[in-house]
Amino acid sequence: QPPNLQMEESGSLGRVNCRAKGAAPGFKVAILGAAGGIGQPLALLMKMNPLVSVLHLYDVVNTPGVTSDISHMDTGAVVRGFLGQAQLEDALIGMDLVIIPAGVPRKPGMTRDDLFKINAGIVKTLCEGIAKSCPNAIVNLISNPVNSTVPIAAEVFKKAGTFDPKRLFGVTMLDVVRANTFVAEVLGLDPRDIDVPVVGGHAGVTILPLLSQVKPPCSFTAQEIDYLTDRIQNGGTEVVEAKAGSGSATLSMAYAAVKFADACLRGLRGDSGIVQCAFVASQVTELPFFASKVRLGRTGAEEIYPLGPLNEYERVGLEKAKKELAASIEKGVSFIRK
Ligand code: NAI
Repeated sequence: QPPNLQMEESGSLGRVNCRAKGAAPGFKVAILGAAGGIGQPLALLMKMNPLVSVLHLYDVVNTPGVTSDISHMDTGAVVRGFLGQAQLEDALIGMDLVIIPAGVPRKPGMTRDDLFKINAGIVKTLCEGIAKSCPNAIVNLISNPVNSTVPIAAEVFKKAGTFDPKRLFGVTMLDVVRANTFVAEVLGLDPRDIDVPVVGGHAGVTILPLLSQVKPPCSFTAQEIDYLTDRIQNGGTEVVEAKAGSGSATLSMAYAAVKFADACLRGLRGDSGIVQCAFVASQVTELPFFASKVRLGRTGAEEIYPLGPLNEYERVGLEKAKKELAASIEKGVSFIRK
């Protein structure tokens, strides 16, 4: 399926916009929650992405200002802002990729599950809009608790008859980004050279770094494994506490979201060998959703890789992760079904 061409109307002074003819092909991307702590730097970085031709910024507050600001950047993407529920449909029509960082973040002492009450309803409404206006778009869901909001999205899409498991992704990229950084620190290497698979889900013990599969191959002491596993699982809480009530990770999250979105767009373009970890509908374990390595292609998640050989430490971690994940998935599913 070819990417959408950027087609612009005539400019404000009546000249025919020459970009309408010679426009480079690119993808249409919407950010829902674009005025928030993650949304703003995410919008900035997506405006810089050469694969994006049209960028729609949607929120229930402050999008006119954010849109005006971002639109002055002299990069290729055309930016349009949308404010409030009445404009959701227009924000979504024709989109290839929808990124969702809408919803409340944690404060110190909160778990991601504490956000369920508010964010479940927000994600439901936004996904109903996607089902109606761009049912074939790839969806990157960032809103927490990801372990429950992805099942919510799937149920909304199933109800609407538009569910394609290959196109729905819970974004767990920040766990991978943190794992790469923390492992590089311990090994004294450049984080760009490190690849740590992180599987399971996106909360506490469900975040399972597979330190036995780090590339390049390396070994850790038992003490290092305990330290790294704990720090990777609680990296989000580290930021929440440092921000002392003003929110959770936003800048590193925007970076991670763009890293994942860019991988999705390169997959859509037909690039080969694009593999990233994400929380997806999966048969890798007995659970209906699980994060593991996924190959991204023209139709979304084209292949989901098995976990590979785990050591005893990881097998124990996997059982703990699955127990908590099962409950979080069930909570999301029953939010829609009941
Ligand atoms: P924020 O509060 O700064 O921004 C959220 C934005 O969502 C606000 O601009 C708000 O107006 C908007 N919003 C609220 N209801 C909306 C609706 N119905 N439609 C559209 N927009 C709506 O929060 P922040 O820091 O940007 O975090 C957003 C979400 O991302 C939180 O749920 C947070 O827990 C999650 N998060 C996920 C991570 C991950 O790794 N997946 C990492 C960090 C945060």
